[in-house]
Amino acid sequence: MTAAEHWASELAAWAIPEHIRAQAPESPWAFTPAVYRPPKEPTPDTLSRVRAREALPEGGSVLDVGCGGGAAGLALVPPAGRVTGFDQSRELLDVFAEGAAALGVAYETVHGNWPEDAGRVGPADVVVSNHVVYNIPGLAGFALALGTHARSRVVVELSGEHPRAGVNDLWRHFWEVDRPTGPNADDAIAVLREIGIEPQVERSPRPAWRTMDRAARVASLRRYLCLPAERDPEIDALLDDRPSPPVEAVTLWWPGSASS
Ligand SMILES: C[S@@+](CC[C@H](N)C(=O)[O-])C[C@H]1O[C@@H](n2cnc3c(N)ncnc32)[C@H](O)[C@@H]1O
Repeated sequence: MTAAEHWASELAAWAIPEHIRAQAPESPWAFTPAVYRPPKEPTPDTLSRVRAREALPEGGSVLDVGCGGGAAGLALVPPAGRVTGFDQSRELLDVFAEGAAALGVAYETVHGNWPEDAGRVGPADVVVSNHVVYNIPGLAGFALALGTHARSRVVVELSGEHPRAGVNDLWRHFWEVDRPTGPNADDAIAVLREIGIEPQVERSPRPAWRTMDRAARVASLRRYLCLPAERDPEIDALLDDRPSPPVEAVTLWWPGSASS
């Protein structure tokens, strides 16, 4: 099995069992906008931001793929003078646009799926994509299109382990099912190497849910767990007992190949 096939098959194992999915009041995989709203106050620089910023000319452009509310791209203003948010969710693009307008930066939003709709957007000095790749079975094509859109550098951030693995015990509690744990960041790196991308790899601690509003987190988990809102107090109580696990952020960066 190739690294790309391994990645795709590990992700496929995350499909929610049909008898549970059928009871879900809302889509379990939808992203909750409140969760992805960037903090109002500036937060300390992450390693990924440092790597993106050092490749950006003053007033340069950023393309944020899977931008959500813009946590990755908008944090690069300044020196970034123009930020394009690309996402498959119109709701999240609205959050991105709100944040960009508040910063007073030139911006554009592009609605589409990466890489299928990558042709709708031009190149940028730096292309960033944070916490998206675990949603992408076709990681090779995804990564190649990031590279062809970057004049200077691609910076991808992902968690060391699958971001949903930390709540697998809740699936056992509510539904008595065992969930998968893989793939992990090393599996993503193997896919990149297989297609000739040799990324720089840097690992750093990532503050987990500490900065996130508790109610938003509970609502997001309830949707993912296919539960109705009446179960929120139970989810909230279970979260109380849990130590916040240290979450590792993995920053991958490589040169872009766009010429203009
Ligand atoms: C976990 S959120 C991360 C958002 C943001 N980058 C951040 O770090 O806060 C993943 C985002 O990727 C988007 N997304 C997932 N797959 C995508 C695809 N193939 N093309 C475009 N956007 C995608 C989702 O809509 C969502 O906004």
